[in-house]
Amino acid sequence: MDGSSRVLLIGQDPAQNEAIVRRILVGEAGQRIQGFLAKPGIDRSYVMINTFLYSVYGSVSAKNKKAAGIIDYRNRWLKALLVGQKIEAVITLGVLAGEAWKTWSATPDGQSVAVTHVPITHPTQPESASDGDKEKLRVATKAMLAKWNAALQTLHAAIQHPDRVQALIPYGESWQPGDKVLIPEFYFPPGLPAWMRESDNWARRAGADVNATRRNITITVPKGLVPKL
Ligand code: URA
Repeated sequence: MDGSSRVLLIGQDPAQNEAIVRRILVGEAGQRIQGFLAKPGIDRSYVMINTFLYSVYGSVSAKNKKAAGIIDYRNRWLKALLVGQKIEAVITLGVLAGEAWKTWSATPDGQSVAVTHVPITHPTQPESASDGDKEKLRVATKAMLAKWNAALQTLHAAIQHPDRVQALIPYGESWQPGDKVLIPEFYFPPGLPAWMRESDNWARRAGADVNATRRNITITVPKGLVPKL
C-alpha cells in the first residue's frame, strides 16, 4: 500500500476467515497464493484486493455483478493502485476477478496503464468443482497446476523487479511440500493468535437455515490450545 508493490492480485470475495481477520486471502487459498507468488520471487512486493469487499454467500447475483456502486468503488481502488504506480503484473483469480479487470481496463484510467494481465484459476476451484469426490479433486488440481505453470511463465517474464531473482520451478501434478507458503506475519493485524494465521477451518458458518447461516460465523479454537479445566 506504500507504492512499492510490483504485483497486484485481484481475488474474488472474502471467506469466513477473511471476514473475521479483516485481511484477504488468509486461509487455504491464501497459502496457495503465497506459494504461487514466491515462485517468480515475490515475497513482499504485492498488494491484494478482492472483487467484492464483503463475503458473497452462495453465488454472486447478476445485480451485484453490474452494481454501479460496487464497480465504481473497486475502480477507485484500481486507479489508486495502478495509475502512476510501479505495478508490473496483475493477477486475477477466477472469472469474476477477470471480468472486474476487463471492466476497469475499458475505462480511460485503465487504458492509460500498461501492465501484463495474468488470469489464473481460483486456488480453491478444484475443491469447489469436485464436491468431496477425491478423484475429481485430483484431476481438477492437476489441471489447475498445469494452467498455473503456463501463467507463471508470463508472470516471471513480466516482473522486472522481484524481491528475489530466481529460476522458475514449476508445480508437479499434485500439491507438494513447499508449494503452500505461510502468510507473512506482517500482513495480519497485530496480536492475532498464531493459529488464526497458520491454520484453516477455524471459522465456519452455522445456522438452522440460510438466513441464520448468513448472519453467523462461529470461531472454534483448534484442539490442544486451550488448557483443560
Ligand atoms: N478467495 C478469494 O478470492 N478471496 C479471499 O479473500 C478468500 C478466498
